Amino acid sequence: GASPQVPCLCHGGSLPLLGTNRSVLFFGHRGFLGFRSLYLDEYRDRLFIGGKDVLYSLLLDGASADAKEVSWLGVGKAPGDLSSPLLSPQTDCANYVRVLHPYNRTHLLACGTGAFHPMCTFIYVGHRGEHTFSLDPARVETGRGRCPHEPSRAFASTVIGGELYSGLTADFLGRDAGVFRSMGTRSALRTEVDQRLLNDPKFVAAHLIPDNDDWDNDKAYFFFTEKVVEADSKEHAIFSRVGRVCVNDAGGQRVLVNKWSTFNKARLVCSVPGPGGIDTYFDELEDVFLLRTKDGKSPEIYALFSTVSHVFQGSAVCVYRMADIREVFNGPFAHRESPQHRWGAYEGRVPYPRPGVCPSKTTNQPRQQYSSTKDFPDEVLHFARAHPLMYKAVHPRHRRPLLVKTDLPHRLRQLVVDRVEAEDGHHDILFLGTDAGSVLKVVVTQKTSSAMTEEVILEELQVFKMPVSITQMEISVKRQTLYVGSSLAMAQVRLHQCESYGTACAECCLARDPYCAWDGTACTHYQPSGKRRHRRQDARHSNPVHPCLENLTGERLGEENSTFLECVPRSPQASVQWFVQRPPDEQRDEVKTDERILQTEHGLLFRKLHRHDAGIYYCKTLEHGFTQTVARISLEVIASEQLAHTFPRGRGDGLPHLLCPKPRLAPQAPKTWFKDIMHLISSQNLRQVEEYCAHLWCSSRSHHRKSKLAQAKLVLAGVDVAKKGRTAKAHSERNRVPRQAPAT
Ligand SMILES: *[C@@H]1O[C@H](CO)[C@@H](O)[C@H](O)[C@H]1NC(C)=O
Ligand SMILES: *[C@@H]1O[C@H](CO)[C@@H](O)[C@H](O)[C@H]1NC(C)=O
Ligand SMILES: *[C@@H]1O[C@H](CO)[C@@H](O)[C@H](O)[C@H]1NC(C)=O
Ligand SMILES: *[C@@H]1O[C@H](CO)[C@@H](O)[C@H](O)[C@H]1NC(C)=O
Repeated sequence: GASPQVPCLCHGGSLPLLGTNRSVLFFGHRGFLGFRSLYLDEYRDRLFIGGKDVLYSLLLDGASADAKEVSWLGVGKAPGDLSSPLLSPQTDCANYVRVLHPYNRTHLLACGTGAFHPMCTFIYVGHRGEHTFSLDPARVETGRGRCPHEPSRAFASTVIGGELYSGLTADFLGRDAGVFRSMGTRSALRTEVDQRLLNDPKFVAAHLIPDNDDWDNDKAYFFFTEKVVEADSKEHAIFSRVGRVCVNDAGGQRVLVNKWSTFNKARLVCSVPGPGGIDTYFDELEDVFLLRTKDGKSPEIYALFSTVSHVFQGSAVCVYRMADIREVFNGPFAHRESPQHRWGAYEGRVPYPRPGVCPSKTTNQPRQQYSSTKDFPDEVLHFARAHPLMYKAVHPRHRRPLLVKTDLPHRLRQLVVDRVEAEDGHHDILFLGTDAGSVLKVVVTQKTSSAMTEEVILEELQVFKMPVSITQMEISVKRQTLYVGSSLAMAQVRLHQCESYGTACAECCLARDPYCAWDGTACTHYQPSGKRRHRRQDARHSNPVHPCLENLTGERLGEENSTFLECVPRSPQASVQWFVQRPPDEQRDEVKTDERILQTEHGLLFRKLHRHDAGIYYCKTLEHGFTQTVARISLEVIASEQLAHTFPRGRGDGLPHLLCPKPRLAPQAPKTWFKDIMHLISSQNLRQVEEYCAHLWCSSRSHHRKSKLAQAKLVLAGVDVAKKGRTAKAHSERNRVPRQAPAT
């Protein structure tokens, strides 16, 4: 039959999801969704979707036919003339629902573009367990400063305590950009229109991140890009920023009335060192994902960046720690005497309370209580207005990206992260939405001893048939599902499909998918909380031999006559080539890979061995034009009949030579090597064989050799070797690394 797919090994191809039951697409009831917003409600077990003139409520466990629909048309007209050159021909006067947030226990807040008259309303969704969904047309209010006019312009918003915080361009002409707060009972706040505060910003994300247990210190963070004018170049560059405001900001009393008095921003740097000390910067922020911690105060901030220049195009993911972000906001303010001067750190006296600090118990002094920003001295507000930017930039964890991709045909647009517990620790699984309708699933593993990371593209999932841009993604860890939105449709995709990794332990382990493990008979979803034992999984090292063979008891390996020749280059940049020399031939030929012989990042996998595979294998690496033989492995293929003969007879140095340590190998090596052979013999009764053989061949064999040989013969007689066709033995004579001992 068809050979099982091993998608992890073929980085080129993508996996079509259509026609499988791994994904479900939702196009809405009229076949076109015009998807714009998504709210995953795991408490109510519902998924809310905002599209073009429409809202949907889906039951997470139900069929999409059960979806409830609310239609919400824009009633406004375009400002002025619709044939205005400001409107692109594609612009259409519909109501695109772009804001969808939980508001209180019974209602969602929804805002739409309203045919260029942004509008907001509350949607009744009922309590948990009900499936109600309704909109009261009488309760529609203005959405200006809450929702953009355009169907696709970047913006970000979040609801905190019944108030909507949004970062957007609030006018039709695209000039009035700001951070706004509206709804609720307090008066609305916004940033002043001032290029020092925000210069043509593109908002990406908004989140509440508390500082500590005192609610008065709660802050809303905004992630965005903006234009900067370098003092020396006059050229516009794009920088990524993190900005923040106090949730209890009430604006000033005489200065900054109804304006934020606590707004600060800092640069987010994501760069890689380049040749000659020139760093490559990834400055265009595309998406932000918060990996929440239990207390909610120190989420890890995963940010996806891109850079597009005439020399270079690529994407990077950087991870920021809240402690580093807070330190930059607590550090010096950026200052310059005039636009002709260079930026420097402000070294004068900073007024009290320090701008950016929220009025709370900590700002109060014995003689002066600051219960609101309205109590702040004018001096503080003047300083805040003139110094919105922090001098230092926020650098990512380890001062380098977690992931850099420069060789992709598509741009990466969206990011969600799942931290997966596996037997060998945790792994970050990144789902990266492209602008071509696909999602890359990447596992990033931190090398234990250093800050270096290693990444593997596990799968490329073609979620949509058309090359549409992925505009939103949400993950439900509880349901092991990814929700992927594009203008066309919304897709639900299972996070893993372990069966697709084939039917052999080695393939399952080689796939390195932390969601999957070998359960003794199949590659299945690994659940760390589960009671199942004997799982075989090794995402960190990807040596299929060790995890699969570490405990052979009672386990039948799927592949009777497969083998793996290990070779890990010193550097991931090195390219690896395999050569084989088949004695008596002197010549070394390059190994031809195909469905049967796969070259993986960690070696050569023979799914099925043929007799003619025997030979001496050379693993060569090429890096910076420098070639090196990293491993020399001699592979013998022994017909099982021959093996059956070899064992009982034990003639000459046949068997001891097979099983016992080569003097050059490290002391712990023999056991593994010996297990490799056991693996290839593959018996149902291996533990016994293992014990006997280990005892017999690998301890002292100076005396009683004959009787021990007899024992070995006895055990092996119980093994039906003859049935298994050919088996093989591989033993390596490494130049460098001794084989690793199993982690028992
Ligand atoms: C659908 O998924 C189930 C497991 O959830 C699997 O057993 C079945 O073979 C799949 N069917 C197809 C057509 O992929
Ligand atoms: C939720 O908010 C809506 C809109 O303000 C209001 O009509 C409704 O009574 C609120 N529900 C609860 C439970 O507070
Ligand atoms: C290996 O098998 C033995 C015997 O069944 C068992 O006691 C032991 O717990 C197993 N070890 C692992 C790591 O599964
Ligand atoms: C390896 O095993 C498969 C079935 O498991 C068999 O079809 C094939 O012939 C075997 N190869 C050799 C060389 O014995």
